[in-house]
Amino acid sequence: MKVKFNNLYLQNKIFSKNFLISFKSIIKRSDFVGGKEVLLFERKFRKICHSKYCVSVANGTDALIISLKCLDIKHGDEVILPAHTWVSTAGAIIAVGAKPVFVDTDEFFTIDANKIEAKITKKTKAIIPVHLYGQPCKIEEIVKVSKKYNLKIIEDCAQAHLTKYKNKIVGNFGDVGTFSFFPAKNIGAMGDAGAIICNDKNLYNKLKKFKNHGSLKKNDNETYGINSRLDTIQACILNKKISRIKKFNLQRIYFSKLYKKLLCNNSSIELPINRKNGIHTYHQFVIKVKKDREALIKFLKKKNIETGIHYPKMLVNLKPYRIFKIGSDFRNCLKYEKQILSLPMHPFLTHKEIKYVCNAINLFFTK
Ligand SMILES: Cc1ncc(COP(=O)(O)O)c(C=O)c1O
Repeated sequence: MKVKFNNLYLQNKIFSKNFLISFKSIIKRSDFVGGKEVLLFERKFRKICHSKYCVSVANGTDALIISLKCLDIKHGDEVILPAHTWVSTAGAIIAVGAKPVFVDTDEFFTIDANKIEAKITKKTKAIIPVHLYGQPCKIEEIVKVSKKYNLKIIEDCAQAHLTKYKNKIVGNFGDVGTFSFFPAKNIGAMGDAGAIICNDKNLYNKLKKFKNHGSLKKNDNETYGINSRLDTIQACILNKKISRIKKFNLQRIYFSKLYKKLLCNNSSIELPINRKNGIHTYHQFVIKVKKDREALIKFLKKKNIETGIHYPKMLVNLKPYRIFKIGSDFRNCLKYEKQILSLPMHPFLTHKEIKYVCNAINLFFTK
């Protein structure tokens, strides 16, 4: 049996007839930039996220950069983020000329809320909590700290579509929530796509303007800006797929429970834990392997089971960011760096496949 890490073909095949019908309408209308599909997506996405506003953009990295720009983060400012995230989170901070200040993570793989305050200086202007793998951060604590020091919060929700904390959808706790719809995400396009949600009208207008060369009306450029458009074809794809996101997330959660049931007696690994009062949407199912991780990966590969590591290096161990490691304590995330292993996770897995994966992992450690 072959177990794929993700199966984008199955996730798109069920929509393909509908995609083709809509593509034909787009060709007829020839509204290849902007238009009805983009507006519809913004409406659908803000509704499903329970937020007042949504600004579509070209990708999740732009969503971060545009948010930082519109929250007036600039050269010389410091922005706090977890040391364990995808590189975009840090790259966006550098892109606006600010300095990334890394914080260690907790046992949930999210920024350790208790370690944030110690990193705040006079230059700190914002925090970017990342709801990594679909797990909500301890976001209420982070909001409390931000209020105390008058800091902005950009929630990086690229991996956390409809993740909840205390019954509230993430992205609504901070000033903005940023999303990626990279094909492998819980809702994925067939190329790059992104969005920003917020609940403040002035900020919404600022974001909308900035991503469109500083204008809300054609040829009326009021400020500087860039071009970051959600492609019309991608919006059309997302409009079809958004109707299934809740179902797809439930499938992921269901499979996470099955993995946990079948692996719970294996003392050589640690299973992911869900934060209390949170809904983890399992973009990734990440275990901690206490010994022989590389040999386990090889063994699973031989059994035709694909796995991943998200990410092989913590940001403070990546070449451009190594300089920020000095003098700080990253003991948790540096330990996890050597242990983390992502198992196959997508809504079209089967019981048989999960059993096969778990049997192989258990067999490896009893050999
Ligand atoms: C945590 C996180 N932030 C930001 C991004 C950036 O999104 P994109 O690849 O759409 O630019 C990603 C994408 O993988 C991500 O996982």
